[in-house]
Amino acid sequence: MSNILVLNGSARVDAFTAAMIKSFRKGAEKGGNTVRVLELSRLHIHSCIGCLKGGKDRAHPCVQRDDMDIVYEEFRKADTIVFATPLFFWDYSGLLKNVIDRLWALAEYERSELIGKGRGGALLVAAGGSHPELIYGHFDYMMKRLAWKNLGKAAMLHTDDMDMKDIPECEEARALGEAVCQTDSVQY
Ligand SMILES: Cc1cc2nc3c(=O)[nH]c(=O)nc-3n(C[C@H](O)[C@H](O)[C@H](O)COP(=O)(O)O)c2cc1C
Repeated sequence: MSNILVLNGSARVDAFTAAMIKSFRKGAEKGGNTVRVLELSRLHIHSCIGCLKGGKDRAHPCVQRDDMDIVYEEFRKADTIVFATPLFFWDYSGLLKNVIDRLWALAEYERSELIGKGRGGALLVAAGGSHPELIYGHFDYMMKRLAWKNLGKAAMLHTDDMDMKDIPECEEARALGEAVCQTDSVQY
């Protein structure tokens, strides 16, 4: 069983990314996994200032003091991280990209806090159009460089043509959630 942290990079809490998370969660909880969702739009997280001077204090890995400390705490408890994002300019939303950049401070404290350690990652993308290829490529490369298990990706496409009041179940996201249950548990 996995301890799953979902980082929701959508500012619209009831829209398509949120619907994908709901479907993913249904699948993941079926197998007894624990799922915690952080709504990044409700947190105050600054962008990385690129100082490369983090990692001096375990409680506050980054030199900036903001709600990123909440993310660090939840991240440390999780063995599976789900990056959930609207597709913005064929990429992660700014909300999520800020958080990804700021995770680097964990590696500055201790490399294994971020790299490897048997972690798994998954990607959920809600896209107004039909081209998630670039973010898929980035995600695959990120999993490789972080030495995490790539648990897979799911997309809901053409959301701009859909009715926000009648969002269908995302079967791909639910199946991805179910597949996480079948993943070997993380060895620390
Ligand atoms: C600033 C901005 C950039 C966007 N860029 C893209 C894009 O590159 N490709 C695409 O397919 N949709 C794009 N969209 C549409 C969103 O991906 C789509 O509306 C998605 O459902 C938003 O996620 P949400 O429903 O969780 O808010 C963009 C929307 C915004 C507001």
